[in-house]
Amino acid sequence: MMTIPTLNKPLSNLCEQDFIKFADSACTLISQAPDENQLQELKVQLQGKKSELVALSKQMGGLDVDDKKVYGGYLHELRTRLTTAFDHQGQLLAQKALNERLTAEQIDITLPARGVPAGGLHPITKITERMKQFFVQAGFSVATGPEVESDYYNFEALNIPSHHPARAMHDTFYFDAHYLLRTHTSGVQIRTMEKNEPPLRIICPGRVYRCDSDQTHSPMFHQMEGLMISKSSNFAELKGLIHEFLDAFFGKKMTVRFRPSFFPFTEPSAEVDILSDNGKWLEVLGCGMVHPKVLQNCGINPDEYTGFAFGLGIERFAMLYYGIDDLRLFFQNDLRFLKQFG
Ligand code: PHE
Repeated sequence: MMTIPTLNKPLSNLCEQDFIKFADSACTLISQAPDENQLQELKVQLQGKKSELVALSKQMGGLDVDDKKVYGGYLHELRTRLTTAFDHQGQLLAQKALNERLTAEQIDITLPARGVPAGGLHPITKITERMKQFFVQAGFSVATGPEVESDYYNFEALNIPSHHPARAMHDTFYFDAHYLLRTHTSGVQIRTMEKNEPPLRIICPGRVYRCDSDQTHSPMFHQMEGLMISKSSNFAELKGLIHEFLDAFFGKKMTVRFRPSFFPFTEPSAEVDILSDNGKWLEVLGCGMVHPKVLQNCGINPDEYTGFAFGLGIERFAMLYYGIDDLRLFFQNDLRFLKQFG
């Protein structure tokens, strides 16, 4: 506890020495104030209304003129010294407080940042992009269409009338007699041919739906179909394009087989197999020359134009590319699986 110095005499009994001694001990006391609060308390005691200094100043009125000058000088000197000491200590304490805060709040900028966890593209998206890249370079543009499709675009216009047995191959989800979930993206090709003049070169990636579910079938999966219409398109061109695509996609020379097949919307039609590493043929794609009736349905003269089309399942390609044996992994959103594709 600090003891406040005192003069303890009437003003007129004091000499200069008393004032100096008082000022010395007061200044020492001020310089020892450890924080702002105690400094403030000292100010009240040494300079406040009830301080000895104020009480002595009040006695000035009772002095004669000469003493007034002398004591006025002493008191002024004392006040000045106290004020200077308070200011000085105040600054020291403020600086000390600032230094303490800076040390306490120091930020270590060498620590590693917490980081924002970044997601990655889904493997199906990556494979779709890989496919698009090839076809866009070959001059194809990307076309999209509705997933809720009409019977006309999904079947009728593609030469699959309602009585046609090929409808059974599609395991369709129907909403009613007219609307359904598209079973392939071929409807997009019809829509494109209706709206645009040939020559045409499009690919149609997108979600398709079939009422089927097991290790290699999912009720929703992704397809990419392609269509080329020109005055000179032919099967050799189709074969060349597909073979080049397969080489580019798998990043090596592929052994490829075109096997005769049937689709109502292409004639002739083929299925494409690739020879896998274990010597087995794997079906990866369907294709063919666009059926003249389909061209006609879209207002394209089949005597003037020919075209070819192809369709593939993106999941099948993703499984082969990444070596995945269960299709369902793509749709379970298991991060342990997805993280592997960064
Ligand atoms: N639309 C066919 C299917 O989904 C695939 C295909 C497209 C076949 C174009 C030949 C030509 O099965």
